[in-house]
Amino acid sequence: MKILGLGFAFLVLLSLQCSATAFNITKILAKFPEYSKFNHDLSRTKLADEINSRQTITVLALSNSNMDALSGLDLASLKRVLSLHVVLDFFDPKKLHEITNGTTLSTTLLQTTGTAPGNTGFINITDLKAGKVGFGLAAHGAKLDATYVKSVKQEGYNLSVIEVSKPITTNVAAAPAPAPSDVNITAVMIKGGCKIFATMISTTGVAKTFEDAVQGGLTVFCPTDPAFTGATNKLLKKLPSDDQVSVLEFHALPIYSPLGTLKTTNGPISTIASPSPRKYVLTVSSSGDTVILNTGVSKATISGTLLDDQPLAIFTVNKLLEPKELFAAAPTPAPTPAPVEAPAPVVESPKSKPVSSPPAPAGPSGSPLLANAKGPSASDSSTSSAPASAGVCRGILAFLVACVGVLVFML
Ligand SMILES: *[C@@H]1O[C@H](CO)[C@@H](O)[C@H](O)[C@H]1NC(C)=O
Ligand SMILES: *[C@@H]1O[C@H](CO)[C@@H](O)[C@H](O)[C@H]1NC(C)=O
Ligand SMILES: *[C@@H]1O[C@H](CO)[C@@H](O)[C@H](O)[C@H]1NC(C)=O
Ligand SMILES: *[C@@H]1O[C@H](CO)[C@@H](O)[C@H](O)[C@H]1NC(C)=O
Ligand SMILES: *[C@@H]1O[C@H](CO)[C@@H](O)[C@H](O)[C@H]1NC(C)=O
Repeated sequence: MKILGLGFAFLVLLSLQCSATAFNITKILAKFPEYSKFNHDLSRTKLADEINSRQTITVLALSNSNMDALSGLDLASLKRVLSLHVVLDFFDPKKLHEITNGTTLSTTLLQTTGTAPGNTGFINITDLKAGKVGFGLAAHGAKLDATYVKSVKQEGYNLSVIEVSKPITTNVAAAPAPAPSDVNITAVMIKGGCKIFATMISTTGVAKTFEDAVQGGLTVFCPTDPAFTGATNKLLKKLPSDDQVSVLEFHALPIYSPLGTLKTTNGPISTIASPSPRKYVLTVSSSGDTVILNTGVSKATISGTLLDDQPLAIFTVNKLLEPKELFAAAPTPAPTPAPVEAPAPVVESPKSKPVSSPPAPAGPSGSPLLANAKGPSASDSSTSSAPASAGVCRGILAFLVACVGVLVFML
């Protein structure tokens, strides 16, 4: 019986490790009406998703009266300012007073969005004398006039919410954003290493479709240049031009969905190519910090953020997203141990072949949602180690469940 107890204790411990239960900042702050405006704006700007998807975070909350100072900002600026109030480190009252040498620069969410030049996405936290702690911009000589008011909530060493006396802001953060429709999407992509994709969307007119969609919210996944291997290009060239447009439009969502939102999404989402909600869908899942996009034929992972400025987000992905409506999986040969993430275009394996038109009628695999639930295919091999470790974790768990089962059986 003792062994059984031990086994169960171990299981419980392990399952805690495996499913790091996330917090919900919206729910936490809902208990404090004095931060209701701050809470509402975290949701409006989708920063709540970003916070919930992190493991170690400190939120510098502003009371309703302090939020008035930000009421004139447009949504994109508000998001940038509030991003400065989300610190990617854990500071409870005790830790604030134990900062080495009494001062530190800490990364905020603003720094992760690609919109903060230099160190404008960092804040300076300084243990001022007389028990006061000051918060300000990282720039030399910046005032530290936002001060610690009180601790609101702590969860373990993962989430800390503390109130500060006034907003931390900057011209950079609060500058009226260039109208989102003015952002040159292809230029952002070229700068971010997606030259081939940028050229494709320009020459096919898809860039214009994207530009027209920005105002209502747009998220683009652009495959980086190494994703266009000889084999991929060949497959694309074989498609009629209408279908090429569909493939390109399959790389964008008609909504603003920043990384944190994608991380907390689990299931199918429509793309710009979706003529109806059940076609040309991507299935999103995540494992640790890795976001995986499953097309039903292959999987790609998000490898970077090129731009995140509400209502436009542009990410890089490691592979072309192949809609299963146009790319049917060829019977996969024995899964060859793929080279570990070699970016060179050496992958010539016959992965998938385009179905020659006309588009295949929805056959037995008609449900796009079910087909996605299939196990790993040979094309998974380049996902990062995070999903792998989660898999190992689940494997160990399954093994332990089996062990306990055997024990119960023997007793
Ligand atoms: C967080 O809590 C809010 C309010 O209770 C709820 O509406 C929302 O769905 C929750 N979010 C998640 C990701 O569970
Ligand atoms: C808390 O953070 C630690 C490491 O920073 C992580 O291992 C753990 O999973 C996190 N727990 C939760 C509940 O997110
Ligand atoms: C703290 O100050 C000492 C002496 O000025 C310096 O050598 C050390 O690098 C500082 N530590 C940090 C973490 O800044
Ligand atoms: C934080 O700001 C104060 C006051 O401007 C400055 O003295 C200190 O050096 C800054 N800390 C860091 C780590 O830059
Ligand atoms: C956008 O950037 C691309 C590449 O730098 C350039 O060729 C194009 O003319 C730009 N478009 C506009 C409208 O400025």
